[in-house]
Amino acid sequence: MRILMINGSPHKGNTWRAMCAAREEILKEDPYVIFEEIHLSSLKLPFCTGCSLCFRKGRDYCPHSSIMKEVFDKMEAADGLIFGASTFYMAPNALAKNLIDHWSFFTHRPHFFKNKALVVSTTAGVFANKTVDFIAGALQSIGYNKCFKLPITAYSWNVYDPDEKARQKIKKVSLKFYKDVASGKLHEPGIGLMIPYNLFRGMGLNYVKGSEYETEDGVYWTDPKRVKATYDPSIKVSFYKKPFGMLFYLVGKWSARFITITYRK
Ligand SMILES: Cc1cc2nc3c(=O)[nH]c(=O)nc-3n(C[C@H](O)[C@H](O)[C@H](O)COP(=O)(O)O)c2cc1C
Repeated sequence: MRILMINGSPHKGNTWRAMCAAREEILKEDPYVIFEEIHLSSLKLPFCTGCSLCFRKGRDYCPHSSIMKEVFDKMEAADGLIFGASTFYMAPNALAKNLIDHWSFFTHRPHFFKNKALVVSTTAGVFANKTVDFIAGALQSIGYNKCFKLPITAYSWNVYDPDEKARQKIKKVSLKFYKDVASGKLHEPGIGLMIPYNLFRGMGLNYVKGSEYETEDGVYWTDPKRVKATYDPSIKVSFYKKPFGMLFYLVGKWSARFITITYRK
C-alpha cells in the first residue's frame, strides 16, 4: 500500500507532527506501507492566476501544469492520501487553499473515484473542524470515494506533542482510514455528492464541442460511458438513489437554458 502525505502547512509544525503520529499508528499496524511526502512549502507552486484555462481547455493548459501534473499523478497513484493543513483564521492556510484552487476544475469533471483520504488539521484553540470539513468537501467534490477527518485542538504554537487522549483519537481515525483503504471497498456516493455531480452532468451539455462556449466539460459529459450514468460507472449506486441523480441532471440541463458561463475568445 502506498500513502501520499501532502503537508499543506507552511512549515513542519503542529499539523505535520499530528500527520506523523498518524503515520506511526499506521506503520504499527502494517510496517509494509510505503509513505511519500509532498511539502507544499517546498513545491514553489505559484498562486492560481485565475486564467480558468484548466476549466475551459483542460489541465495541461494551466500555467503551472508541470508542477501540478506531478502532484495529480502522485494523488492518483497513491492508495491513500493524508492531507494536512493548518487552521489559520478559521480556514485552511493559504498554501493549502492554493493547491485546492489548482484542482478546483476537477469539481466540474470529477476524477479520483478510487481514492481515499485522511484530512488532518491542527488549531491552537478553535475551528480545526471547519478546516477539515472544507478540505474533505473539496476532495469529495473531485471524486474522492471516502474522507476521514482528524481535527485536532493543539493548544500550541509549534511545539505540539499529542497527549494520551489525542494519541488515542489519532490512532482510532488513522486505523479506520488504513483499514478502509486496505479493504479496497468502494463506497457508494451519498445524495449530497450525487447532487453536484448530476447538476454538472446536466449543465455540462451547454458546453459541448461546436457550441458557442465549448469547454472540456462538454467533452467529459458527452463521454459515452458517462452519458446515462447518475455517478461514475466504476461506483455502484443503489437503484433508489438513481431517480435523485436523474432529477438533478434534469435541473442542471434545464438551468443551462438560462445560464451560460461565457469567456473572452
Ligand atoms: C496566521 C495564523 C492564524 C491562526 N488562526 C487561528 C484560528 O483562527 N483559530 C485558532 O484557534 N488558532 C489559530 N492559529 C493557531 C494555529 O492554528 C495553531 O498553532 C496550529 O496548530 C498551527 O499549525 P501548524 O504548526 O501546522 O502551522 C493561527 C495561527 C496563525 C499563524
